[in-house]
Amino acid sequence: MIILGIESTCDETAAAIVKDGHEILSNVISSQVDIHKEFGGVFPEIACRHHINNILPVIDEALKNANMTHSSIDGIAIAHGPGLMGALLIGLHAAKALSLSWKKKFIGVNHIEAHLYAAMMGRLEDLLFPSLGVVLSGGHTMLVQIDSIGHYHRIGSTVDDAIGEAFDKVAAMLGLPYPGGPSIEKLAKEGDPQKYAFKPGMVKNSPFDFSFSGLKTKVLYTIKGQQANRHSPLLIDDDEKKHIAASFQRAALEDIVNKSLSAATQIGAHQIFIGGGVSNNRELRRLFAEKCSTIPQFWPSAGLSLDNAAMIAGLGYQKFLLQQEGDSLSLRAQTRIPF
Ligand code: KG4
Ligand code: ZN
Repeated sequence: MIILGIESTCDETAAAIVKDGHEILSNVISSQVDIHKEFGGVFPEIACRHHINNILPVIDEALKNANMTHSSIDGIAIAHGPGLMGALLIGLHAAKALSLSWKKKFIGVNHIEAHLYAAMMGRLEDLLFPSLGVVLSGGHTMLVQIDSIGHYHRIGSTVDDAIGEAFDKVAAMLGLPYPGGPSIEKLAKEGDPQKYAFKPGMVKNSPFDFSFSGLKTKVLYTIKGQQANRHSPLLIDDDEKKHIAASFQRAALEDIVNKSLSAATQIGAHQIFIGGGVSNNRELRRLFAEKCSTIPQFWPSAGLSLDNAAMIAGLGYQKFLLQQEGDSLSLRAQTRIPF
């Protein structure tokens, strides 16, 4: 079964062709990072304008790269949430219009679930359950028990900032370019992760929940002084920035790894699947491997950590297998979807 996946939840316009949920025949991503850099974050109206211009060319390119015309595809999968409302509507309406005019099955998928599926799609033969899913993106930080593809229980999530958001905000405080995650990771390579004793937040009576706002404020006061706000001038020199980046990154990532591993032990997880933009971080991958050699950890392959449509097409196939039918064209865009 050949699925065209479409992704437009935030600032990437993407389309991909995937066979049987795992064989990626094409994977096209038009990123707007350079456009939003100027604003230090995603500017929703501008993101929408670019989605409108890019969506059909990106879909055409995905078909062309897979050496196909639309007559070869069986269905269209779309991420209908969570995300920015305007951005979601553009992808959703394109998917509905094409499925209607091309007479293809129409399948809506959850973008966050697709981030987890990205870590599974290369090894569908070897999946064991229950497993632990760890979602680490710009908008979500979540631990879930995976009982099978499509069946999850949430174990923990963030009570304030998402991990990617914390990286982006700390990077902005340090005057580093957007997106902050890769900027912090790069600078941290030269720094001493033990120079500053930053501590991540603990949530009372919720050992698997996360809180990053206290850590973020601690970094702010350390680099700009007590009572500072994010517009206050930096009190540290460029050399010190690398130690701040390394210490912040170590504190945040160790918290994620420690909570993930104790959750995995508690649920008797056979495997751990980690997805979302922050899963691109090499230090995170190193820490997981260093702290746990008994439970296998799986990561998205190259190009599948950040937002992409291959994970949408792959999960769309699985959803179709589970439901044995497509979704209604009345499916709505949802800025939040309970998991
Ligand atoms: O999953 P994603 O592409 O979009 C959302 O669904 O949110 O994640 C984007 C987030 C951004 O906050 C970005 O700073 C972060 O992922 N990120 C990273 C790295 N690469 C991207 N964070 C830490 N280290 C990285 N290498
Ligand atoms: Zn995402």
